[in-house]
Amino acid sequence: MLLGIPLETKERECRVALTPDICSQLIEAGFQVQLEKGAGLKSYYPDDQYIAKGVKIVDGASSIYSSSDVVLKVNAPSTSEISGMKKGATLISFMWAGTNPELIENCAKQGISAFSVDAIPRISRAQKMDALSSQANLAGYKSVIMGANALGKIFPMLMTAAGTIKPSKVVIFGAGVAGLQAIATAKRLGSIVEVTDIRPETKEQVESLGGKFIMVSDDDSIKIEGGYVKGVSDEFLKKQQELVSKHVATADLVITTALIPGRKAPVLVTEDMVKA
Ligand code: NAI
Repeated sequence: MLLGIPLETKERECRVALTPDICSQLIEAGFQVQLEKGAGLKSYYPDDQYIAKGVKIVDGASSIYSSSDVVLKVNAPSTSEISGMKKGATLISFMWAGTNPELIENCAKQGISAFSVDAIPRISRAQKMDALSSQANLAGYKSVIMGANALGKIFPMLMTAAGTIKPSKVVIFGAGVAGLQAIATAKRLGSIVEVTDIRPETKEQVESLGGKFIMVSDDDSIKIEGGYVKGVSDEFLKKQQELVSKHVATADLVITTALIPGRKAPVLVTEDMVKA
């Protein structure tokens, strides 16, 4: 079975679907692996490292798509890339199927079996494939680092006899995997952290990391299933917005991680909040 790894084409994407070490494990298990020239470069894996593990380097994405039995990607391929795939081939990538019905239709038309890594259930035996958690964890960390760098102000309180610099304040929306990592990273850098989430159990998790929880009153409209938010009323979101606006107005950095699986992420920071 031939596995193919195209170069990621999304702007500013630095990831590659398989590292040389993983290719080596797959080759040992009996697969053949081909990689588009330079696909690992932005992750600091030059072609030579893949060649050393037995991977074939191919020039151009189209031959990868047309010849591979399994295409492995980070971001889902485009319509034209899917139409260039072998009939009956398999695709493994992030697909966000709930908000991407066209992509699923295209795969179906082409007879592609697709495994969307963001839809792998979070059950014990599938934990090794929990791509959502691994990438959310990184995103939470990196959002704070990028924010801190852009801030033009420092995070921790610094005191000398000549004066005191107050710590920065970070407001974080959502205390799932990304949000909790963002809280921990922002606290480590010395900022004050305030957090809002609509799942009541996150209050304790936020506080255990040293964050302050912004409490919006309980609401019957919040539907939670298996640890995920399934829905929330517009009235609740309005109440939340009014309360959180005050915190946002005094924040140095605002990070939004709130998501409802299978839907577009809720827009929680309005233009007025930005102006304030
Ligand atoms: P997510 O990425 O789907 O959502 C992020 C956060 O946004 C959630 O905490 C959610 O409550 C919050 N949110 C949604 N709407 C909001 C709003 N209007 N305002 C503020 N916050 C809002 O969540 P994630 O990170 O995927 O985690 C969801 C659950 O899955 C958690 O309970 C987590 O502990 C659990 N989990 C379980 C794993 C397992 O292996 N069993 C692995 C990872 C997470």
